[in-house]
Amino acid sequence: MASVLEIRDLYAGIEGQEILKGVNLTLRQGEIHALMGPNGSGKSTLAYIIMGHPHYEVYSGDILLDGESILEMAPDERARAGIFLAFQYPVAIPGVTVANFLRQAVSAVRGYTAQKDEEGPVGSNLIPMREFRKELTEAMQLVGIDPSFARRYLNDGFSGGEKKRMEILQLAMLRPKFAVLDETDSGLDIDAVRAVAEGVNRLVGPELGVLVITHYQRILNYIQPDRVHVMYDGRVVLSGGPELALQLEEKGYDWVRQQFGNAVKA
Ligand SMILES: Nc1ncnc2c1ncn2[C@@H]1O[C@H](COP(=O)(O)OP(=O)(O)O)[C@@H](O)[C@H]1O
Ligand SMILES: [Mg+2]
Repeated sequence: MASVLEIRDLYAGIEGQEILKGVNLTLRQGEIHALMGPNGSGKSTLAYIIMGHPHYEVYSGDILLDGESILEMAPDERARAGIFLAFQYPVAIPGVTVANFLRQAVSAVRGYTAQKDEEGPVGSNLIPMREFRKELTEAMQLVGIDPSFARRYLNDGFSGGEKKRMEILQLAMLRPKFAVLDETDSGLDIDAVRAVAEGVNRLVGPELGVLVITHYQRILNYIQPDRVHVMYDGRVVLSGGPELALQLEEKGYDWVRQQFGNAVKA
């Protein structure tokens, strides 16, 4: 049966400042949803909170995976439960190669590092090298990344497009049930957007639910969403089909502000 990720009347923020003010959104495995909205509306905050970023606070509401709250789960537990976040601003880790990073991540998510007793890890806590290499080669091919990247330091000196593709490579390797892609298109030229979108499209299917967070409509020319949601001032104020994205492209966000901006903000 398809898994369901449900955000239910979520109020959340950071350092006592409320950013999300009652978010409702349900994503099923196999579906692609787009989350759009002007800058500062709370899209990245929602992404971080889904992943369990420790700096953010949930005041009320819930996030449910197949009916079970995940709010008490640490980020690594959420990753093991099948949730993945591609960051808006991927960090560089000089000294750690792409291959090493991915081997650690894949091992952790698949439970290789979970075999511990009081003394520490028991036995080999990494996915066997040969198995890993095979998967990595296949995933790099699928996503369109040159194999030489495996030996480079993670995101160190990577172009914007290369960093975003690296996020898609992680997605391909970790095979989550739900992937949140936070502005995977931002700052990219159109060829890079297309390349990233093609990578995503090769991974979508009945096993993967995707939340594509984007300010702009253009990536949705290549990744066809089933549903489009518009966030404004910490709430999902509009939901609809793909036509909603086109409408936003045409009319911009001003009419959303006019319709949903309220005196409270002033
Ligand atoms: N670490 C933070 N500290 C204080 N305010 C923050 C922090 N992160 C985000 N905010 C505020 O929360 C609001 C939503 O930001 P964000 O979630 O990044 O929106 P979006 O991704 O839609 O552009 C903004 O007003 C922003 O200034
Ligand atoms: Mg953002």
